Amino acid sequence: MARPARVTLVEVGPRDGLQNEAVPVSLDIKLALVERLAAAGLPVVEAGSFVSPRRVPQMAGSAELYRRLTRRPGTAYPALVPNLQGLAAALDAGVTEAALFVSASEGFSQRNIACSIADSLARIAPVASEVIAQGVRLRGYVSCVLGCPYDGAVAPEAVADISARLLDLGCDEISLGDTIGIGTADAVRALLDVVAARIPAERIAMHFHDTYGQGVANVLVSLEAGIATFDCSVAGLGGCPFAVGATGNVATEDVLYLLNGLGIETGIDLRSVAETGAWISAQLGRDSASRAGRALLA
Ligand code: HMG
Ligand code: MG
Repeated sequence: MARPARVTLVEVGPRDGLQNEAVPVSLDIKLALVERLAAAGLPVVEAGSFVSPRRVPQMAGSAELYRRLTRRPGTAYPALVPNLQGLAAALDAGVTEAALFVSASEGFSQRNIACSIADSLARIAPVASEVIAQGVRLRGYVSCVLGCPYDGAVAPEAVADISARLLDLGCDEISLGDTIGIGTADAVRALLDVVAARIPAERIAMHFHDTYGQGVANVLVSLEAGIATFDCSVAGLGGCPFAVGATGNVATEDVLYLLNGLGIETGIDLRSVAETGAWISAQLGRDSASRAGRALLA
């Protein structure tokens, strides 16, 4: 399949990244991060989550963040919501795009959200209905699509089934998460062969973590399967609190460097993203995990 001429990058660093950073990050820094990323041209910046503050302390200030956020026209700022309680808080804080999450593996579902896959689908169904009733755009995440830290291999058919259920619930887009960053190129191809046979490629986003350094290769393989939306995290921030050892998402700078080299349009300024990556990494007291970001600023 031909590569897309234009790609949408969904910046998840302020949520997926910061949720797993050990150093506490102040609200002012989080706000500056979100606003700098939007100013760099990222069309979608996932800015926080409305989950249990006991389970994910780093996201505790999300309501305040959304209240104080200066929004750029044309930029979307979705938030992760796990249940009706989270949705109510998100709507109250002015969130206008929501993301729900389920796992393709039972082991991760239990560790992440303390229930089975079937129960999680039952739990999010009323959330999805409410989101749609409010006219809010809805994204669905599927975790562990290329393997689970607890259960091992995950069948592409299981990912396709659960993705189809999320579409039935009203999700506009399904983000397929390699939560532990274990996938390699052929596994991505095999997954997309099965999933894209049931779900239009334009409604699939790929969400790679870069634990084994395969993120950029996996993005390329996905582009060749016609995928045009990718999640990524500035400076490769983060990991997952419920998948020990997993590193952050593939770095936004690294994906942009690939896309620029392929002549694929994004509307994003790589240098601004790299500067923001260096800045947030300094706030966290470490180097950026983005190779392209470090090289550009060297
Ligand atoms: P629960 O059913 O209430 O059970 O929540 P619980 O025992 O886990 O939690 C109970 C406590 O959480 C209670 O408070 C609730 O009020 C509170 P307590 O009485 O103990 O003080 N609570 C909430 N507080 C604020 N907002 C809420 C909320 N809901 C319950 N919305 C639930 C189950 C799943 C909601 C909870 O366990 C939770 O929030 N867990 C955190 C899950 C999470 O954020 N995981 C990381 C994000 S997923 C991810 O990163 C993967 C992704 O990036 C894709 C990929 O890479 O694969 C998306
Ligand atoms: Mg993730």
